[in-house]
Amino acid sequence: MSASKPSVQRVLTGIKPSGTPHLGNYAGAIRPAIAASRQAGVESFYFLADYHALISTTDPLRVQRSTLEIAATWLAAGLDTSHVWFYRQSDIPEIPELTWLLSCVAGKGLLNRAHAYKAAVDKNTAEGVDPDAGVNMGLYMYPVLMAADILMFKAHTVPVGRDQIQHIEMARDIAGSFNHLYGEHFVLPEAAIDASVATLPGLDGRKMSKSYDNTIPLFCSPTELKKVIYSIVTDSKAPGEPKDADGSALFELYQAFSSAEETRAMRTAFEEGIAWGEAKQALSDKIEASVAPMREKYQALIADPAQIEKLLHEGAAKARAIATPFLGELRRAVGLRSLAEVARPAAAAEKTKAALPQFKQYREADGRFHFKLVDAGGGLLLQGEGFASPRDAGTVVSALKQGSAFEVKDATLWLDGAKVATLAEGVDEATLRAALAAFGE
Ligand code: TRP
Repeated sequence: MSASKPSVQRVLTGIKPSGTPHLGNYAGAIRPAIAASRQAGVESFYFLADYHALISTTDPLRVQRSTLEIAATWLAAGLDTSHVWFYRQSDIPEIPELTWLLSCVAGKGLLNRAHAYKAAVDKNTAEGVDPDAGVNMGLYMYPVLMAADILMFKAHTVPVGRDQIQHIEMARDIAGSFNHLYGEHFVLPEAAIDASVATLPGLDGRKMSKSYDNTIPLFCSPTELKKVIYSIVTDSKAPGEPKDADGSALFELYQAFSSAEETRAMRTAFEEGIAWGEAKQALSDKIEASVAPMREKYQALIADPAQIEKLLHEGAAKARAIATPFLGELRRAVGLRSLAEVARPAAAAEKTKAALPQFKQYREADGRFHFKLVDAGGGLLLQGEGFASPRDAGTVVSALKQGSAFEVKDATLWLDGAKVATLAEGVDEATLRAALAAFGE
């Protein structure tokens, strides 16, 4: 679709404070997020997902320490808190409240299919114990809490690792269900994966991850860093023997911290048989050069936690300036309203409003995004085509609401030369136009 994207793109991502930040977190999430936050036309929301951390950690000191370390990391890496929304999830009480509203429209079956939960069930089943053994409701509800994080701030784009794509799809599903039931309150988010940096290999060549115990800490001492880099697993090719850059963890790590030109030179060095020791030295120097300036800032920040606390509180106030009124709107939408409101004559106006035709957007089993227009009594007027993205469907809906010119031929509605919808059985063009006119009033 040629149609307009909203002029400001909201980008949101959360980082779970459940360990000491490593190079993979930095290159895969923090660095690209900070770069993206500096672009024009972008509003960035970055937060510490500490409620999420409680699902896998019952050690309070670890939660606290990790939150401190992750916050200090983002700040040391150059996040400009005056320009972005940087906050701690647990400072926004609207998030757990929204989680409940979403829980009530999220299918249990949907959550049964969440990868993390399913993996736990599969493991238990294989071990012959109760399928839900050791599974807490936090793990089960993880995607709903995450949906609340995202939907609360009407994020368009959510940069995440591949393992999180399913969660974004669930957020979209849940948002669609809510919108369908209560009107268009939520923006349907999309995941953004940067293929070049999404995952960094760890010491053993598998994805760098705390769970594999193969990480390179971001802020260890230069000596420690060098030692860890020397422990990267390589094959037994001797110096002088040509080496394959593709598939080499060492090479991939080098690439993540080097310019295109430096990467090309290293590829040639591999072909020419650079010794592993030499390649490790080059990688170690590269990483140290990127990390050294941040390390200094990081240490200063960690030494002054009150300063970080203050920044987070400011961030929370800024985030709640959005969350508090929006949650108010959502509470009203679901019927958690002042009882006094009903008795007032204003209620009559609301009734007329509710009696207007309505657009509903939803996702079908075919994975495509549809809309329909129903009249005040819920009768179908117009059925939209399936669109590839929620945004495409949304664009057509807003064009129709805003009175954009369209044509109807043989019960088919054409907009900008594209077939976008079909009139319902027994509905004529005049009825449709009259219904659409109601949106302009
Ligand atoms: N689940 C994410 C992770 O483990 C962290 C997270 C929580 C998140 N809430 C989010 C990411 C909202 C993006 C958007 O990496």
